[in-house]
Amino acid sequence: MDRDSIDRLGAELAAAADAAADTAALEAVRVAALGKKGRVTELMKGLGAMAPEARRAAGQSLNQLRDRIEAAIAARAEAIRRRDRTAKLAEEKVDVTLPVRPTAEGKLHPVSQVIDEVTEIFAAMGFVVAEGPDIEDDFHNFTALNIPPEHPARQMHDTFYLAGGAGSNAPPLLRTHTSPVQVRTMQAGPPPYRIVVPGRTYRRDSDQTHTPMFHQIEGLAIDRSITMGHLKGCLEEFARAFFESDQVRMRFRPSHFPFTEPSAEVDINYTVENGVVRVGAGERWMEILGCGMVHPKVLEMCGVDPAQWQGFAFGMGLDRIAMLKYGIPDLRTMFEGDLRWLAHYGFSPLDLPSFGQGLSR
Ligand code: DAH
Repeated sequence: MDRDSIDRLGAELAAAADAAADTAALEAVRVAALGKKGRVTELMKGLGAMAPEARRAAGQSLNQLRDRIEAAIAARAEAIRRRDRTAKLAEEKVDVTLPVRPTAEGKLHPVSQVIDEVTEIFAAMGFVVAEGPDIEDDFHNFTALNIPPEHPARQMHDTFYLAGGAGSNAPPLLRTHTSPVQVRTMQAGPPPYRIVVPGRTYRRDSDQTHTPMFHQIEGLAIDRSITMGHLKGCLEEFARAFFESDQVRMRFRPSHFPFTEPSAEVDINYTVENGVVRVGAGERWMEILGCGMVHPKVLEMCGVDPAQWQGFAFGMGLDRIAMLKYGIPDLRTMFEGDLRWLAHYGFSPLDLPSFGQGLSR
């Protein structure tokens, strides 16, 4: 075969590749040219019968022919792939302006909902969320909070201790409150601080009103001149926002915590109507949190100068206020993982609490 006819064949096959409408048509072009019985392959088979000189020249032209066709096929394949991808993207386009369908399954646990609500309220007052580990050490959970070894408060905490700890090293433990995150926050950087810390806490306690794992939220506000008045204002604002009622009254009772001085426990008023608890009505009082002015010794142990900085802290049980707000009668059912319970008491994960939309809409 002479050069001209090889060129013509090359042009013909390259044009066929260019014209292939899809991957299957292109594959047919490839087989017809380069397959076992393809036209180029057949020509190559003829090489064996040629004289060595002629064979070298013809071999070279046929190799070039094959390369040309392979290149044309590869280019066409890429063009087809790109065209198909563009079409697919256009076809599978998601219309993000469509309204979201409410999910039938998958509910947010009331405790998660309450954490979202509470953090939203405190965030609006300028607090940021901080977190710490569930597995704590003795220093952060007790000593730095002015609860030294042998302090009676340690017994009251019914601590779960973990294996480990040797010699003078106390074993690790499951945090008995969220207060150790106060310590971690102060150790991590200089004041001022305004944090809230929602999280899991653990005590060896299990009966109708106690579960070994429960939830707290801690608050800490330290600045140059924060007073007990600010503490009262924050908590009253919180109670009205959380229970979505201006009728909620609060009572501060003197109390004692090693890490605050002075300390108080806070009650809210409630009444029981037809067996249902109603917050913000009536003359009965229910305790919901502990609080106080952070003890100078705690500030000192965390590297904060108590001559320059002061402020308040509080700790509140989240499970109790979740039960109160959403009429859940039994604490233990909260952690049984029963999907029917969750379907009844759970919240849509797409309705995030916000003041604009109404906290618990
Ligand atoms: N940590 C305490 C507890 O679990 C609650 C508490 C009381 C936290 C007073 C505070 C506080 O920050 O100031 O019982």
